[in-house]
Amino acid sequence: MAGSKRSAAKVSEDDTPIGPTGRPYRGFPTPPKLDGHGPARIISLCNQKGGVGKTTTTINLAASLASYGRRVLAVDFDPQGALSAGLGIQTHDIPTIYDLLLDGKRDPHEVIVRTRVEGLDVIPANIDLSAAEVHLVNEVAREQTLARALRRVAGEYDVILVDCQPSLGLLTVNALTASHGVLIPLECEFFALRGVAMLIETIDKVRDRLNPTIELDGVLATMYDARTLHSREVLERVVDAFGDDVLETVIGRTVKFPDASVSGMPITEFAPEHAAAQAYLRLARELVARGAVA
Ligand SMILES: Nc1ncnc2c1ncn2[C@@H]1O[C@H](COP(=O)(O)OP(=O)(O)OP(=O)(O)O)[C@@H](O)[C@H]1O
Ligand SMILES: [Mg+2]
Repeated sequence: MAGSKRSAAKVSEDDTPIGPTGRPYRGFPTPPKLDGHGPARIISLCNQKGGVGKTTTTINLAASLASYGRRVLAVDFDPQGALSAGLGIQTHDIPTIYDLLLDGKRDPHEVIVRTRVEGLDVIPANIDLSAAEVHLVNEVAREQTLARALRRVAGEYDVILVDCQPSLGLLTVNALTASHGVLIPLECEFFALRGVAMLIETIDKVRDRLNPTIELDGVLATMYDARTLHSREVLERVVDAFGDDVLETVIGRTVKFPDASVSGMPITEFAPEHAAAQAYLRLARELVARGAVA
């Protein structure tokens, strides 16, 4: 039954505590300093289910990687503009990702905004982006539009994180086509795995037809509550489905995230000592250790 495997052994053979995913919970080393920057590895954060922590993860992973000296570009690829807002950027009267998609000659540098987090830049989005799919439909190589735009700045960053909207439409296919890797945040609640098969199918189709080298960089369990059997059972099911692709780092459920969003800051700046900030720093270290990020 759920939980029993883990409760039987709280430490591994070498006395490392067992983590929430059922594997030894080891530390990951502080990422080594980089000698130079770029070319970026592009990672999309994807799940067509809404509210699973895509944007929260993009913001806080980006800030965590920046704190380890990585040059990070976060791309808001959702017309809701939550990533831009979460980083304190007002988007109503500035050029956005929409302008970049629609005008192939536009210099991406004109659209990039610095954030108050050192080393973290953003390409913002606003509601204009909701019209992009309609405009792109008649373009030649419409699935490659984002890839073409990002190619021009990839040399300046170590990692580019693309925060996808909750859909599997043309924008998300653009994100997947532009990406080296994909991270799937999954909320630890009952319907977490519903729809994931369709997401994996979409990634497989993109790999087959548009981007043969795209990899699954990991499945990230979010909003985990260790006190509830329910959360533990869902995580166990996620591990059964994805095995070692489930990242060891698990993000706990806490009200600090909504608070940080309102403040327009990553949690690593808003409450750096909080367990949730530490979890995202750990995620950054784990992704470097796994080779997903330089
Ligand atoms: N670990 C967490 N604990 C508690 N609340 C969280 C956590 N992560 C995110 N949230 C909150 O849950 C809501 C949804 O998170 P977020 O916006 O990151 O999800 P999303 O997948 O990007 O959503 P959408 O599909 O609408 O883009 C937000 O209000 C956010 O502050
Ligand atoms: Mg979002």
